[in-house]
Amino acid sequence: MPCRYFLSIIFMKALFIGRFQPLHKGHLDALKQISENEIIIGIGSSQYNETSNNPCSFEERKKMIENKLDSSNINYRIIAIPDINDEEKWVDHVKDITGEFDTVYTGNSVVKDLFKKKGYSVKDIEINIKISGTEIRKEAERLFKMLEKTKRTFSYCLSIAPTTLEINKLKREQDAIILAHSYQTTDIMYGVADFLGDSYGLSKIAAEHSAKKIIFCSVHFMGETAKILSPEKEVLIPAVAGCSLADSITAEDVKNLKEKYPGIPVVTYVNTSAEVKAESDVCCTSSNALKIIESIPNEEIIFIPDMLMGHNLQKRTKKKLILWDGVCIVHERFDKRAVDKIRAQFPETKILAHYECTSSVTDAVDLVGSTSDMLNYVKDNPAEHYMLITECGITDRVQTEFPNKNIVGSCQLCPYMKKIKLEDILVALKNPRKDQVINLDKEVLQKAKISLDKMMELSK
Ligand code: 13P
Ligand code: SF4
Repeated sequence: MPCRYFLSIIFMKALFIGRFQPLHKGHLDALKQISENEIIIGIGSSQYNETSNNPCSFEERKKMIENKLDSSNINYRIIAIPDINDEEKWVDHVKDITGEFDTVYTGNSVVKDLFKKKGYSVKDIEINIKISGTEIRKEAERLFKMLEKTKRTFSYCLSIAPTTLEINKLKREQDAIILAHSYQTTDIMYGVADFLGDSYGLSKIAAEHSAKKIIFCSVHFMGETAKILSPEKEVLIPAVAGCSLADSITAEDVKNLKEKYPGIPVVTYVNTSAEVKAESDVCCTSSNALKIIESIPNEEIIFIPDMLMGHNLQKRTKKKLILWDGVCIVHERFDKRAVDKIRAQFPETKILAHYECTSSVTDAVDLVGSTSDMLNYVKDNPAEHYMLITECGITDRVQTEFPNKNIVGSCQLCPYMKKIKLEDILVALKNPRKDQVINLDKEVLQKAKISLDKMMELSK
């Protein structure tokens, strides 16, 4: 007898009822506060889905909960709870489905009252919801409007909505702006970024915007460029991401080139480290390289580090370019045969290539330019079909921003650009890691600023 009494005290069951549309941090914190040995998770409004209030089916919600709880030590089972059609009979109906339980937990006041009336113990639980389910659903709807164009599902949008909401709130509180290069993923570009663009456009924003803090979603050299142009601002990069071009040359290499070719100005592509920029006369990006080269009086110019871009520029200028042998590992992979194939299959397709591609490719296309040049071309051109010979982020932008335009052929992913995830941005805003903060040697910064300021002046 005492033994049975003892057992009934220690083995207690809780019934936790919620709609879990979607499961959020508030529910997870609440679950941790429940001390009963078993938790019966009752999913309410389980028969409804695909309305704005109940976007997820019972199965989808069950999966969300299982994904979060399966690695925890919570002993739980999930049950669909019927809607309240008859208030008198509902509690007994629920009990028939769930079996015995000792305590009920829920945030729904009607449900609480019904259980209390039937003599059940209803315990209050602190559902510490910083972001409510309604806000999450609204955010998921906003995201879905943009992301569905690149085949993201509503469930995916629900899963990232708490993070995008938190990032957007923190950036407002901290007077921060988020800049995203057009090679970033669509959740970053359309979920949290304030500005999208190419390396020149984003550098200009970094230099001119009044925000205190910049979160630069791109590779390291772009974060450095923002810091050089706006040294008083705090500049953060969410992930440590290099670039094959930036890695191909050091400041020492530039010094050696200058020694070998004395008096010849050095024009440096922006895809380089701050130290390399500090040894250069003027910087350029793919959107202004030709203009910069033409605006320099000298007939000979050292152009570093992109050899393929150098070949493309050489075909468009009478000046003699002395080149370095750096390449972009993404753009060098494109092959002219892919261009020929599309031309043969879809002759009306407009083919656009980045300056970093080989000249066999760029010789065969309709436009050679920067990422923004390509987007502007698509925007202004009446053609329906396009092949974009560059990183896939641009394809995603075209599909999102110009849904009536059609992309043919395939793109390539940049492993560096794609290192950044929403969670990294959240960390950079909440508690930045050392490697996320751009810090530059004062002398390097000042020298590099001269070459970037010169680029800004010459590209006006
Ligand atoms: P854009 O200046 O065209 O954005 O190019 C940067 C880059 O890294 C291309 O690979
Ligand atoms: Fe560097 Fe090429 Fe990636 Fe651009 S696409 S960041 S140039 S590796």
